[in-house]
Amino acid sequence: MRLLSRKAACNTHGQDSSYFLGWQEFEKNPYDEVHNPKGIIQMGLAENQLSFDLLESWLAKNPHAAGFKGSDGKSIFRELALFQDYHGLPAFKKALVEFMSEIRGNKVTFDPNHLVLTAGATSANETLIFCLAEPSDAILIPTPYYPGFDRDLKWRTEVEIVPIQCTSSNDFQITETALEEAYEEAHKRNLRVKGVLVTNPSNPLGTTMTRNELNLLVDFINAKGIHLISDEIYSGTVFSSPGFLGIKEFLKDRNYHDDSEVWNRVHVVYSLSKDLGLPGFRVGAIYSTNDTVVAAATKMSSFGLVSSQTQYLLSALLGDKKFTKNYISQNQKRLKQRQRKLFLGLQKAGISFLQSNAGLFCWVDMRHLLRSNTFEAEMELWKKIVSDVKLNISPGSSCHCTEPGWFRVCFANMSEETLDIAMQRLKSFVVEYSTANGCSQRSPQSSKNSRRKSLTDWVFRLSSRDREHDER
Ligand SMILES: Cc1ncc(COP(=O)(O)O)c(C=O)c1O
Repeated sequence: MRLLSRKAACNTHGQDSSYFLGWQEFEKNPYDEVHNPKGIIQMGLAENQLSFDLLESWLAKNPHAAGFKGSDGKSIFRELALFQDYHGLPAFKKALVEFMSEIRGNKVTFDPNHLVLTAGATSANETLIFCLAEPSDAILIPTPYYPGFDRDLKWRTEVEIVPIQCTSSNDFQITETALEEAYEEAHKRNLRVKGVLVTNPSNPLGTTMTRNELNLLVDFINAKGIHLISDEIYSGTVFSSPGFLGIKEFLKDRNYHDDSEVWNRVHVVYSLSKDLGLPGFRVGAIYSTNDTVVAAATKMSSFGLVSSQTQYLLSALLGDKKFTKNYISQNQKRLKQRQRKLFLGLQKAGISFLQSNAGLFCWVDMRHLLRSNTFEAEMELWKKIVSDVKLNISPGSSCHCTEPGWFRVCFANMSEETLDIAMQRLKSFVVEYSTANGCSQRSPQSSKNSRRKSLTDWVFRLSSRDREHDER
């Protein structure tokens, strides 16, 4: 007899992915400006640490919110200590849906009765999968995708992920052919497709979905009669044009009202981990107008509630409209400046990247540094970058990218000085590596690369123009 359950003993959690292995390497030897200046710089963590001062100054001005006090100064400790209703604090749900609307320029509203609170987007995504699919059903996801999905969507639910293969030929956008091929692939594997999950804006691409992609997706899920989960965890982390077009705004534009049939099959995931930089608070949500899904997900949320103390604090914070307005715009401005700094550093190192307008990371093209066009070569390069250059970045293969040589590089979880050091290290590495391997600093795939270089220059020129505009 087995001592442990099959689940406890199985190896499908995904923690041996290079995405998580890189974090382990970083933890063994973390960079510190004073105490460990030769340590590994963590560029594999999509955290936003650029706007903590705004949150801290709000807390300093509003001590009652974190101090178990009501606005009248009386203690509410006992009420909070006892509150455990899985429907959540009404004041918090109201503040959260209003924040979601504000991020979307108040073009749409969200009804708090259709919201289910969860312990982060991790829990929201898994809960939705439990609601929509049986073990051995399939969910289609465009590649490259957030490596955590292998854990969040598959591990406990035993649902399969079938990739929608996107490529650099069109900047990794979804195509009709790619959608149909993924559907066919699932059928070949005898898997019943229950839905598509997209991340908009994308992690790891840092791009927002185009109207054309959303059109394709909605036509596809309608034709097949399947669900669409839109993970919009980065919806407030869009800082350059084109702006964000979420699924709710898109469906409104297409005249699908909240009571139309398609809304039975469309579900939005949100969280405050990225837009407010609070992953430790574990605040996420499912938004769905399918009453059965909301009822089931609410019952399931017992396994991952948001503490009443956190809900209370955040209802006061998000209820302060002057604060949220200022936070959203300041945060976007800071992210944009930081992204520009990364772009500039990469450009100086002769490295291209996908032009992006959102997220806490950049999708970087190091194909010209590979010894061969293989994932083995990508791993070899990644190991060198972690162990010699001492930068933890995430290889594209951990995001299920189909082309070797792409890496996700995060830019908002460190100081500007640390980013400067990271860029200096990268530049020196490229020079040394190219010399030692007899390749030009630029890609050996010269014609393609010169096209990429001019793209980089163009992105850079655009960035400089934006900067001039901002500084005016
Ligand atoms: C696309 C996406 N979904 C979900 C998550 C999980 O977020 P949370 O911290 O809210 O659980 C992340 C975290 O990086 C993410 O990038």
